[in-house]
Order: sequence, then structure tokens, then C-alpha cells
Amino acid sequence: MSKVDVLLGLQWGDEGKGKVVDVLTPQYDVIARFQGGPNAGHTLEFNGIKHVLRTIPSGIFHQDKINVIGNGVLIEPRIFKGEVEALTEKGVDATRNLYISLKAHLILPSHRLLDAANEQAKGKAKIGSTLKGIGPAYTDKVARTGLRVGDTLSSDFAQRYEHLKQQHVQTARMLGFDVDGFQLEGVPFAEYERLWVDSLQSLHQFRLISSEYFINQCLREGKKVLAEGAQGSMLDIDFGSYPFVTSSNTVTAGVCSGLGVAPSAVGRVMGITKAYCTRVGAGPFPTELFDATGDQLCRLGHEFGSVTGRPRRCGWIDLVALRYACMLNGVTDLFVTKPDVMDDFDEVKMCTAYSIDGQQTTEIPFNLNTVKIEPVLKSFAGWKQSVSGIHAYGQLPQNLRSYLDAIEQESGVHIMAVSTSPDRKDVLFK
Ligand code: GDP
Ligand code: IMO
Ligand code: MG
Repeated sequence: MSKVDVLLGLQWGDEGKGKVVDVLTPQYDVIARFQGGPNAGHTLEFNGIKHVLRTIPSGIFHQDKINVIGNGVLIEPRIFKGEVEALTEKGVDATRNLYISLKAHLILPSHRLLDAANEQAKGKAKIGSTLKGIGPAYTDKVARTGLRVGDTLSSDFAQRYEHLKQQHVQTARMLGFDVDGFQLEGVPFAEYERLWVDSLQSLHQFRLISSEYFINQCLREGKKVLAEGAQGSMLDIDFGSYPFVTSSNTVTAGVCSGLGVAPSAVGRVMGITKAYCTRVGAGPFPTELFDATGDQLCRLGHEFGSVTGRPRRCGWIDLVALRYACMLNGVTDLFVTKPDVMDDFDEVKMCTAYSIDGQQTTEIPFNLNTVKIEPVLKSFAGWKQSVSGIHAYGQLPQNLRSYLDAIEQESGVHIMAVSTSPDRKDVLFK
């Protein structure tokens, strides 16, 4: 019986999960997404190709590996169809090696309508959602009113769809939202709905399975399974900076409910962190930089959302948050990405504690959203050389090694590897 290894983000998302999963895929037989939906944007780069995946696991370019969309994931059929077509254009036939859980919930066009209505109603307090319908679709799942992939095969699907949609439309109107003027992807709502319904056919080209049986059978056969997280631990519905979070459990616990594997079947937990920190959307971000250094991180790190194109907020790495994430996830190995972005920096900083009203703490406070936090920063000399061409961990410049050693010491978790460019080839295992 083998175990499920996990790869997930330890910050506010966009840590480089897509790239790292793609790099690790040759070591596995099955790659499975366990939560989130098309709010995710996972970027892969190799052989001059750049590709962004949304719902499809990042092992899809390795055609001898099975990719699974688990029951904990949300599927928006129209977006999914676009993803499949984009892969076809790159010569990848996903119908061969992508399986989908019958229990995965659907994002309806009216979930996206409701997402927009909720955000508008929140006004200044809006979350900065990707507006992909994530919150409303998970709400229906928990309220036991949602529709699942398997339901699309039943004869009363159209009626159930219509019933749920009417409820959403009513709620959006109650919120004062301009339902009639609402457009999705540049087309009127009713037209988008038709495209959405057509896209269900695309979904039906895939093997729709009880993925919990499939994955447990793989484990019994000794196959190696990698669970790919979306978003990051600080966006977790329970432990993130609530309410500025996403609507799923992004931490390791989500693997058990999102794939149907027992806690005892979880093996290594690889946690990814950038060498600095970013956040897209609203919510607290204690180490955020509002100065030229922040702008430099954004510019040099190409920190623009892969889903929405919004500029990401940038700041120093936050070890208070990282330690918290390592604890929640049971991280066994750290994967550090993007130190190359700071190649030219004279000085690099790390937040090791928070100062709140003159008191230092190394814990995330409950009232993270409202309290004024001064990050306690430790300074490190920059390495002032390009690290992207280096091909052995031992050859990294001493100043970067010292910085990485400090991350290990402060987090209490050893670093397994460092990524030094967007490309698949630039990963240095320690
Ligand atoms: P994900 O959501 O965690 O998969 O991350 P995203 O794909 O949204 O964002 C990470 C971005 O950083 C992408 O544009 C990647 O191509 C890029 N990237 C990943 N690793 C590295 C790295 O080590 N160095 C640099 N410079 N870019 C990287
Ligand atoms: P990946 O997998 C970064 C953020 C949104 C918003 C909040 C809620 O690429 O790392 P939602 O659409 O889920 O209702 O948005 O969460 N968010 C992400 N930020 N990376 C992501 O995914 C994200 N998915 C959601 O910006 O602040
Ligand atoms: Mg992303």
C-alpha cells in the first residue's frame, strides 16, 4: 500500500505549484487535484511553451501519467472546455489521461452571477474574488443544493439546473444587482448559458469515475499518487485570513475530503513558498511593501495574476505565516521558488515575528484583519548574481545559501529543492 504525497502552497497562492508539479510528475503515476476550481492559474513552462492550467492537474503534459480531478474540485464546464481546447492546440489529447470525479460539483453561470452580485454588495469590503463562482458553488455544495458532474447524466438535470438558477437570479436581484445587463466572458448571460450547456458534451468525452475508489485502488497496487493543491494555506477557509479567503480547505486536510483518502494514507507533504511573498485580491498582508522594492518585486517577478491579470501585491517572506502553514499542513519538505527575482537586490529581508502594540508575537493573531502589525525584519546581504543558470544546489552563492538556511531554521523544515526560473529545467534538488 503506497501513500499519497501532497504538494501545496504555503502562502496566498501563486507560489509556483504548477511548475513544481510538472517537475515532480515523472516520479508519480497519478496526479490529482483535490480542491479549488478555475480560480487557480497554474503556469508551466518548457521548450519555449508557456501554459496556464485552471482545473486540470499539472501532470497533464506527461501523457503516460493519469490526471484526476477529484470530488473536492469545482468544474466550470465552459472554462474546462477552453482548457481542453488549449491543450489540443499544443498537441495534448487530455481525453486519454484525464479522469473526472462524478462527485465534483459544477459551477453554473448563475454561480458566477451571484459571485459578482455578492462582491458588488460588499462594496469596499469586497474580497477581490476571481469571480469564477467559487464561493456560491461551494455554498450550494454545503447547503446540499449543488449539482454534480454525475447529475449531468440524469434525465432531470435540465429541471434541476433551472430551479437552482432561478434561486440564484432571485438572490442577485434582491442584492440590487443588474441581472439583465450581466455579461460573462463578454457575452450576454443567456448566450453564455447556451455555451455552458453545450460544453457539457465536452465533459462527457472524459472518463467520469468514482475517483475515491480509483485512487485507493492505485494505492493498493503500490502506485504513486501526488495530490496537487490550489491557492495557498493563508487562503484556507478555516485557517486563512477570513473572510479574505477562498471557500475550500487548501491545507493537507483537504486532500482527505477532496480525494477520499484516509489521513493515514497521506505520505510526504511538500510545501511551496516563494523566496518573497505575494497576494492578489484584498485582505491583510503584514509584510507588504508599498515602496520601490515592492514595485521591483512585482516587475522582476512578473507578478500579475495568471487568471485575472491583476497586479499582485508584493512583500518580504513572512516566517510567522510560513511556520503556521507548516504546522497546519504537516510539511515534511520545503520547496523555495523565485529567489532569482531578487538577484540584483543589495539586501533581502525576512519577517520573523509580528510586533502588535509594542508586543512581539510569533503567532498569527485572530484579529489579523483589524490589528496594526509591524513586521519584525531580519536583514540579509544580497547575492548580486544571476542564479538561473546554476545547476547544483551547492553552487548557489553563499549569501543565498545563508538566506535559505535561515528559512530552514526559522520554519523548522528542511528545504528539498529550489526553483530558479519559470522553466521546467531550472530546479536544484538539495
Ligand atoms: P501557481 O498558481 O502556484 O501554480 O503559480 P502561478 O503559475 O500562478 O505563478 C507563479 C509564476 O512564477 C508563474 O508565472 C511561473 O512561471 C513563475 N515561476 C515559477 N517558478 C519560478 C522561479 O523559480 N523563478 C521565476 N522567476 N519564476 C517562476
Ligand atoms: P492558485 O492556485 C492566488 C484569491 C482571490 C481572492 C480570494 C478569493 O493559482 O495559487 P475566489 O475566486 O476563490 O473566491 O477568491 O482568493 N485567490 C487566489 N490568489 N492564487 C490563486 O490560485 C487564487 N485563487 C483565489 O484573488 O483574493
Ligand atoms: Mg496561480
